[in-house]
Amino acid sequence: MNTLSGEFLRTDFGHEVYDGWYLEHAGHNFEAPEFVEKHFPFYEKVLLLSKNDKILEAGCGIGSYSRAFARHGYRVVGMDLSPNFLAEAQKITQRENLEIEFILGDYNEMRFEEKFSVIFFEGSFFYRSKEGLVSLLKRIHKALTPNGRLYFVHSNQSIKKMRFPETHWSEVKKNVFVLQNQEYDESIDGARCTWLKIDLETQKHYKCDYFVKCLSPDELKNCLVEAGFMDFHFYKKRRLEDFHPKDDGFSVVAKKR
Ligand SMILES: C[S@@+](CC[C@H](N)C(=O)[O-])C[C@H]1O[C@@H](n2cnc3c(N)ncnc32)[C@H](O)[C@@H]1O
Repeated sequence: MNTLSGEFLRTDFGHEVYDGWYLEHAGHNFEAPEFVEKHFPFYEKVLLLSKNDKILEAGCGIGSYSRAFARHGYRVVGMDLSPNFLAEAQKITQRENLEIEFILGDYNEMRFEEKFSVIFFEGSFFYRSKEGLVSLLKRIHKALTPNGRLYFVHSNQSIKKMRFPETHWSEVKKNVFVLQNQEYDESIDGARCTWLKIDLETQKHYKCDYFVKCLSPDELKNCLVEAGFMDFHFYKKRRLEDFHPKDDGFSVVAKKR
């Protein structure tokens, strides 16, 4: 039997463990092109997309959604804080002969002014506090052109936390395992996520953990209003029906007047 002797090396969110897991699983997780295409009619409809739109995909990862927008004829810029993901995004995009600008950056620091008509987050909308959320929403509001639209998916923590702790193991390569664990922490009213990568061959083990806050739908509405969004709608996750409080998550579309 194999035993663990190596020490856990710490790594930042977005490095060895997290990026590695996504890169090695990109073919068959939620970023798969078929999954993206399946939901495309929903995005086009709720975002009222037209060919004049200029879209920012924030937290684009390997660019699966950015490429779908480009394939459908929209202008798109992809932004991510991970150079690993962006390198992969560029490679696949060139192979497909598509035109997309990718920029390395943290969306919490973005300083665009009326530059995009759509700002789109899919599986990438994270914040650590109410203040952090309002500040992010204000930056987004500023970056949008008049009538611009914001899209993101949000968890309904009161329902989701009933499933916590949630743990997944996967063997990403022979003798290399990744463990993902999420649990609810009452003291901070959010989810603690821990990722471990265990390499039984090299005995190098990596750990990253991060914390995600999830305000309730009502608190989220207040933050949207505080940031200047008066017009918004909560849908079922990637579906045209309205969100129900028993759903574990929802899609938000907010419009700048
Ligand atoms: C779960 S992946 C989703 C990737 C992509 N949206 C998709 O669904 O295919 C989350 C992505 O968000 C990025 N991310 C997280 N926080 C970010 C931030 N503050 N600024 C830019 N990118 C961020 C991560 O690097 C990662 O690529």
